[in-house]
Amino acid sequence: MNNKLFFSGLFMAAALTVSAQNNATITVHADQGKQIIPKEIYGQFAEHLGTCIYGGLWVGEDSSIPNIKGYRTDVFNALKDLQVPVMRWPGGCFADEYHWMDGIGPRENRPKMVNNNWGGTIEDNSFGTHEFLNLCEMLGCEPYISGNVGSGTVEELAKWVEYMTSDGDSPMANLRRKNGRDKAWKIKFLGVGNESWGCGGTMRPEYYSDLYRRYSTYCRNYDGNNLYKIASGASDYDYNWTKVLMELVGPRMNGLSLHYYTVTGWTGSKGSATQFNTDDYYWTLGKCREIEDVLKRHIAIMDQYDPQKNVALILDEWGTWWDSEPGTIPGHLYQQNTLRDAFVASLSLDIFHKYTDRLKMANIAQVVNVLQSMILTNDKGGMVLTPTYYVFKMYKVHQDATYLPLDLSCGTIDVRDNRRLPLVSATASKDKNGKIHISLSNVDVENEQEVIVNLPEVKATKAVGEILTSDKIDDYNTFENPDKIKLAAFDEVKIKNGSMKITLPAKSIVTLELQ
Ligand code: AHR
Repeated sequence: MNNKLFFSGLFMAAALTVSAQNNATITVHADQGKQIIPKEIYGQFAEHLGTCIYGGLWVGEDSSIPNIKGYRTDVFNALKDLQVPVMRWPGGCFADEYHWMDGIGPRENRPKMVNNNWGGTIEDNSFGTHEFLNLCEMLGCEPYISGNVGSGTVEELAKWVEYMTSDGDSPMANLRRKNGRDKAWKIKFLGVGNESWGCGGTMRPEYYSDLYRRYSTYCRNYDGNNLYKIASGASDYDYNWTKVLMELVGPRMNGLSLHYYTVTGWTGSKGSATQFNTDDYYWTLGKCREIEDVLKRHIAIMDQYDPQKNVALILDEWGTWWDSEPGTIPGHLYQQNTLRDAFVASLSLDIFHKYTDRLKMANIAQVVNVLQSMILTNDKGGMVLTPTYYVFKMYKVHQDATYLPLDLSCGTIDVRDNRRLPLVSATASKDKNGKIHISLSNVDVENEQEVIVNLPEVKATKAVGEILTSDKIDDYNTFENPDKIKLAAFDEVKIKNGSMKITLPAKSIVTLELQ
C-alpha cells in the first residue's frame, strides 16, 4: 500500500491520504437474501418550486411544447422509462402553505397564489389535485400526498382525504364528481405536515406530536382505501425529534420521515454544482456516505421504542444541494448535475438497500429542475437527462428485488472533515425471476480498480451490463450537448469457478446482470 497526494485545479487540495489499493474483493451471499428492497426506495419528489411543476412536468394543453393532456411528452416518457414507484407532492415547504381547494374546478376560476417559500413566484393553481393524481395514474406510480399542518386546518386536510378517496354519496366525493372524476383515487401515502420543526411551523417535537395525533385522527379510511400515515420527521442529526415522536406518537404513525441533504452547510455558499476540485469531490462523497451513520442512529432510537419495526423510516428528501445555477432565480434551486451527483446517487442507494428492514421509502429531491434532478428542461422544449437519471435507470433492476448481503474490502481515502471514504461501493439483489444484479461504483478519480467478485452458490457463467462514466468528474449534460454522459454497454465478463474479475475504470458506475 502506498500513500499519495491528490492535486487538483490551480490549488493544491488538502492532503488526502489514500490507501492506494487499486483492487477490491467482494463476496456476494446469494443464499442469504431475506429482505425485499421496496421499490419505494426509488421514490421521487415533485414540489411547487421553481420550474419543477410549471414548465417541468406541466406546460398545459395549449403549450407549443409537445404535451399529453398538459404534461410534457418528453418528460413523461423519460419518467415512464424510469419506473417511478412513488411521487411525493406538493411539497416540501410548499405543502404547508398549500390550500388544495384552490387547485380544483375549472382552471380559469382557480385563484392565483404567492409561492412564499420559493422566490415569491405567482402561481395560477392550474396544476392541482386532479392534475397530480392523473399524472400518477398515467405513470403507474403511487401518489404520496403531503398535507398542510403548518397553516391549514384539521377540517381542510380531512376533507382533502375525503375528496380524493371517498366513493360514497359524500359531499367531497360529489364535489370531485362535479369536477370530472367519478371514481375515487386510491391514496396510500399521506404525509401529515413537512419539516414541522422549520418551514412547516417552527414547532417543538412535543407540540407537533400532539398536532399529528389530532390531524391524523380525522384522516379517515374511505371505501376500502387504507392510508399509510407519515409523520413529519427530523432533519439530519436531530435525534431528539425522532425520540420524542417515537415516545409520543409511536404506533399511531405508519412512517416517520427524515431529511438528509448532501450539503456543505445551511448558511453562506453551498458551492458550485459544476466548478469543484478533487478535494471537494471526495468531501461530497464522504458527506453523502455519512447518511449511513445518521440512518443507523435514527433506526437505533426507533428500535428501542418499536423492536417489531412496525413504524417505518421514510427518507422523503435526500440528495445534493448546491448553489443555484448562475443566472437563475436563487429561490428556484435550479442546479446542474455532474458525474459527482451520479456517485451521490449510487453510493446512497447502495446504503439504503442495507437498511430496508426499517427504511421503506426514499424520495430524491427533486424530479425535474430542482436540486438533484433526474431531468432538466428549458422553456424552448429542450430536455436533458442528468447523470443521476442514468443511475436510477441502471438501478431500477433492484426495485422489489431481494437484497443480497455482501462483504467488501477495498482501499480507502481520508477526506476533509475526518471522514474515510471507501474507493469502491457495491450492492446486489436477486429479482423475481431469479436474476442477480450487481452494481459497483469506483469513486477513484484517477485509478481503475480490479475487483474480484466471489459468487459462491451462483451458477451463472457470464455478466453483462452497462457503465456510466465520463472524462472528467465535473462533466455534465447540457441542452447543447445532452449526451455527453450516458449509459454505455459494459464489456461482457466471464464467471469461472464462481468468481469474476472486473476492471472498473476510474470514476465509473456499473450494473451487471449475471447470466
Ligand atoms: O427540497 C427543497 C426543500 O428542502 C423542501 O421544500 C423542504 O422540505 C426542504 O427544506
